Amino acid sequence: MARPGDTQARGENAIEGHPIFAAAYDRFGGVGEGFLRDHRQYLARDLEGSVLDLGAGTGDMFPYLARAAAAEGESEGANASEDGTAQGLAFHGIEPDPHMKRRAKRAASEGPLDIDLRLARAESLPYPDDSIDVTVASLVFCTISDPEHAFAEVSRVLRPGGELRFLEHVRSDGLLGHAQDVLAPAWKIVGAGCHLDRDFEGLLARSPLETIDVETIRAPPPATPILRGRALKRP
Ligand SMILES: C[S@@+](CC[C@H](N)C(=O)[O-])C[C@H]1O[C@@H](n2cnc3c(N)ncnc32)[C@H](O)[C@@H]1O
Repeated sequence: MARPGDTQARGENAIEGHPIFAAAYDRFGGVGEGFLRDHRQYLARDLEGSVLDLGAGTGDMFPYLARAAAAEGESEGANASEDGTAQGLAFHGIEPDPHMKRRAKRAASEGPLDIDLRLARAESLPYPDDSIDVTVASLVFCTISDPEHAFAEVSRVLRPGGELRFLEHVRSDGLLGHAQDVLAPAWKIVGAGCHLDRDFEGLLARSPLETIDVETIRAPPPATPILRGRALKRP
């Protein structure tokens, strides 16, 4: 199995930090976790090899990745390491906001997940070609400033047959969609760059990846619809 290299994260891999948003996300991010729990579990099930948490934020995926790894470790029995993780799994995470990354690092140090976290943007991933087995993107493509480039990078670092698993909020249909269009510029400011009206599915369809699974999750109104699914790098 190919392993990510040791490319150093460079200064241009950071984005302008959002210290207040990072603190609020850390403090209140858990509010929606009840609703998101099943979907985060979906992202973390049956993992294998090198796993990349894209835009790790404050580390909300870490407990799910750790539990999946522990379950895998138990099922592998003798192959499990002392902390219960399966020896075949290696976790990597990128996060370009230094304030988010600092909090993610703390979350990792306080939990069981052993993850190599780097300051980097999805548009410029610090990993070699074909080195990642699964990339997990939760609520991140809405914020990436150049999503086309990010998809190209995710495709580059995935091994052939490797998969992107996503959980992304998208523009709604109907009246709510129009309201989102109006709110989007202000939302981008308060939401640290988040695009309320991003056409994730269209961007994915135009990317080098092949969508193999996508379902729409209707959150309770007035929340925006969420897409979850998987896309493959063609072998
Ligand atoms: C709403 S948070 C989601 C965090 C986490 N994935 C989760 O599920 O809670 C979006 C994250 O994307 C990060 N982000 C912004 N621009 C990015 C980029 N170009 N590449 C990767 N991540 C980015 C932000 O810093 C933020 O931490």
